[in-house]
Amino acid sequence: MAKKTRPLYVCAICGTDYSKWMGKCLSCNNWNTIEESTEQAGSGSRKKKVSFEVSSLSQIKTEEYARLQTTLSEFNLVCGGGIVPGGVVLIGGEPGIGKSTLALQVANSFKTLYFSGEESAIQIKHRAVRLNIEMENIFVSSNTIVEDIEKIIEEQKPECIFIDSIQTIVSAEIPGPAGSVSQIRESANKITDIAKQKNIPLFIIGHITKEGNIAGPKILEHIVDTVLYFEGDFSKDYRILRAFKNRFGSVNEIGLFQMTANGLQEIKNKNSLFLDPYLSNPPGNAVCAALEGSRTILFEVQSLVTSSAFPNPRRMSDGFDLNRLVLMLAVLEKHVKLKLSAFDVFLNVAGGFQINEPAADLAVTLSVVSSLKNEAICERTCLLGEISLSGEIRPVSQIDRRVQEAIRNGFKILVVSKKDAQKAKQLKFEGKIIEVKNIAEAVSSVF
Ligand code: TYD
Ligand code: MG
Repeated sequence: MAKKTRPLYVCAICGTDYSKWMGKCLSCNNWNTIEESTEQAGSGSRKKKVSFEVSSLSQIKTEEYARLQTTLSEFNLVCGGGIVPGGVVLIGGEPGIGKSTLALQVANSFKTLYFSGEESAIQIKHRAVRLNIEMENIFVSSNTIVEDIEKIIEEQKPECIFIDSIQTIVSAEIPGPAGSVSQIRESANKITDIAKQKNIPLFIIGHITKEGNIAGPKILEHIVDTVLYFEGDFSKDYRILRAFKNRFGSVNEIGLFQMTANGLQEIKNKNSLFLDPYLSNPPGNAVCAALEGSRTILFEVQSLVTSSAFPNPRRMSDGFDLNRLVLMLAVLEKHVKLKLSAFDVFLNVAGGFQINEPAADLAVTLSVVSSLKNEAICERTCLLGEISLSGEIRPVSQIDRRVQEAIRNGFKILVVSKKDAQKAKQLKFEGKIIEVKNIAEAVSSVF
């Protein structure tokens, strides 16, 4: 049988191997992402110890992870309640979003070895002064060769390791420049092995653009235990740390920070980000409560409905699924008899918040109606309901948490389905509870 030849081309985004060059990756459908791999057959690829042992699951001893706590409680929350020794965490994000700042603030909690291929030790020191952190416990190295990193870890015996960033690290055992797919894969594999053997938490920083088309984080996702993405809007100073994968906890948690002149501050009053209680209440605005892991966040949906100059009216949505918006508009046309086909509809979720829950349906539809009618929804009204294709208002999941958040924030009117109205009464919502069966009823009772 002919000997199988090693693939020579690799997709920089998803890491799929190909034996010949192609313009488009068949796996992730991205164009111009396939590059020649310098990885040679047999060289540098991870040599795993072969074991013929098998064990019954019942014989395997488990230990509760003794989690380490950093001084950033938002970070601990996103990691699943703290850092796990030997756990490997990838922190991905666009350049300039604040990954190195976050890293230094986390590093502050332990004796840390910080490998920086991006910035000099002096630059890191300047940042540390700005962040006002204790420096005795943070040891910086500008070595970017993975084999040397191994030796330094051996000598220094740190409690925690940071690699900033994986795109600058190379292995001397394989050819190819830093940042190429094969170097990233190889060096990440090696450092991960060291961290696991020595039971030290490892944080790998990786740059990614909005389109995700820089080699790195995407191809590392399966190697590491936890993938965190650091996101935010450059025009605003808040940042969201989101767990994308976590072998040691839930992926539903988010961490909220604000970038200040002295580094990242944790945001305790999370509603202040997405809902400004001092803002006026113009037509087109509606408020809903969303669940993000263990948190409940009140956010504002804003709509702008204008008469269309085109045969195909425009629909645009930022922060809410566009297909779901189109569906909601169809429900309004059919069951409330609103002629939306003559209007352009623009929808935005305030503060750059992303909402993926059907519980926001009622807020989205009523914000559209509010803009169309040019009539504001009463101040401090919270709208909670999923809308079916037949226009019915359905109960939402975990209504208790959402109603409690509305109570805490002084909401006076609650618009919900019949079932949720009963729960709200049990929870002693003191304002007015408007019980609605369908979307037509919701529109007539709110406007
Ligand atoms: P940085 O952590 O270097 O981003 P990354 O490692 O993701 O590329 O920080 C990026 C930005 O944050 C930089 O433009 C300056 C700003 N910044 C502050 O506003 N306050 C601070 O205290 C620090 C350290 C940075
Ligand atoms: Mg950086």
